[in-house]
Amino acid sequence: MPHPVAIAPSILSADFAHLARECADVAAGGADFLHIDVMDGRFVPNLTLGAPVVASLRKATSLPLDCHLMVHEPDHLLEDFAKAGAKWLSVHIEACRHLHRTMQRIKSLGMLPGVALNPHTSFSMVEPILREVEFVLVMSVNPGFGGQAFIGAVLEKVRALHAWRTAHKPGLKIEIDGGMTTETIGAARLAGVDWFVAGSAVFGHTDRAQAIAALRLAAG
Ligand code: DX5
Ligand code: ZN
Repeated sequence: MPHPVAIAPSILSADFAHLARECADVAAGGADFLHIDVMDGRFVPNLTLGAPVVASLRKATSLPLDCHLMVHEPDHLLEDFAKAGAKWLSVHIEACRHLHRTMQRIKSLGMLPGVALNPHTSFSMVEPILREVEFVLVMSVNPGFGGQAFIGAVLEKVRALHAWRTAHKPGLKIEIDGGMTTETIGAARLAGVDWFVAGSAVFGHTDRAQAIAALRLAAG
């Protein structure tokens, strides 16, 4: 049985001057949780926000918070994100020297750990850590910016992950991030994705409820 579809608006495409209002809008519009992109200007060529903003959002919305750290060697930030109220926390396999230790630390801090993969990172690279994670975040664009075109070749990796979890760990969740639209989401769902991050496809529309409903419908 596939896991239910979850739509996670990425606040990267929201109006940062009115974040509480933007989050309330997507919550009322049927979002399942919020995706929060943390960028350090080093692992990716962009800067966004850190744990203080997450702590403020925690007070402003009841939606669960899914924090995606696009940060080089993020271990020093984990405790801050736990205190700020992150539920799910993903770090990039390409950014961690001791990924297994980082996963244990995220769990010990009371969060649910995920591993994120750049488009060029293969299934075989991540397979040894899958028993330690709650979810895998498959990047379907090169991380750093919203509004980029979907890289369809990553669906082969999603299919490999889906086959692996079917055989070994049915509870593992697969999240996809980047270029999700009503045109691309159906193929991702068929490949085995459960959680769909959508930035511009939600916040780029004035009617967020309609945008979320359209994605859900297209996911099938
Ligand atoms: C990109 C971020 C994404 C981004 C997706 O580095 O990880 O979460 O917000 O934006 P869209 O949905 O517009 O491709
Ligand atoms: Zn993201």
